[in-house]
Amino acid sequence: MLRNMSIRKRLMIILIMVYTITMVGAIAGGYYVLDRDAQLEAKEKTRLFATIMSANQTFMARNVRPEIMDLLPDSYLPEASVGIVMMSETAKIIEEDFPDYLFKIASPNPLNKTNRSDAFENSIISGFNNGDFEEWEGTVNKAGRHYYASAVPVVARKSCIWCHDTPEVANPEMVKKYGDDSGYGYEVGDIVGCRFVYVPMAAADKVTMKKLAGFAGGISLLFLFAMLVLDRIIISTLVKPIEGLVEVAEDISRGKMDREFEVKGNDEIKLLADAFNRMKVSLAKAMDILRK
Ligand code: HEC
Repeated sequence: MLRNMSIRKRLMIILIMVYTITMVGAIAGGYYVLDRDAQLEAKEKTRLFATIMSANQTFMARNVRPEIMDLLPDSYLPEASVGIVMMSETAKIIEEDFPDYLFKIASPNPLNKTNRSDAFENSIISGFNNGDFEEWEGTVNKAGRHYYASAVPVVARKSCIWCHDTPEVANPEMVKKYGDDSGYGYEVGDIVGCRFVYVPMAAADKVTMKKLAGFAGGISLLFLFAMLVLDRIIISTLVKPIEGLVEVAEDISRGKMDREFEVKGNDEIKLLADAFNRMKVSLAKAMDILRK
């Protein structure tokens, strides 16, 4: 196919092919690197968020709960004694400033119905139950949004049972607030839920796309410039001189023996023109001999 084309077209097509391959490679490679960077950053944020939440719980368990138990042994004050309650409430305060950063203690059997695990969370909880992994993190799409998420299992201990055993033994205030149909029946050692942290990736995705578009635009401009320059060079150093040679050759073939093959520069076309000139001289000599 390329053989039947003009040199100019042929070179342009080759350049377009190189451009397409470069673009595909550059975009795929660029996307891989930028997306990996965005994920690393989101991973760091996810870890920070999860650590802050755990630190709240640890602080409460170390410094607040023992005091509360000493001072008010018969009171029901989950905000100051149940880590999960404290973390859920803290998460709500964080969400006021960062509405896209989600924290959820999800369970298929929740006291608080808003904590009910969705299909994705159930699949992770099943993974923990089947021993597929001990910790999980990765990207996920939830309600049309892209997140980096991490999950750790929540395991029932002896200290949890008095609230999560049966509604009959649980604190009546708690049963009144959450109902008696769900959130009970815990057994020590069960994975009763999962602590999920979701960090939004939409802003990072946007930056990735913007950088990629800039990158692709830069490469396109560079190729466009190279194509224009190459086209000019091909016209002035190949097409025009060859057209000149053709014109002279046609004149000579019609008998205008005074025409000379002229080419500026010192390239292969100049060598061709010189050879043609020598051929013209030989031709003229041969014709002279013939005429005599
Ligand atoms: C003093 C009672 C109490 C104790 C003890 C307690 N919890 Fe809870 N737990 C609650 C309450 C109340 C909620 C609902 C929090 C909310 O409104 O988000 C809850 C929520 C949860 C949830 C989230 C799903 C749901 O049910 O809403 C999990 C999982 C959970 N608890 C596990 C545990 C584990 C594991 C322990 C022991 C380490 C424990 N709980 C100890 C009262 C308790």
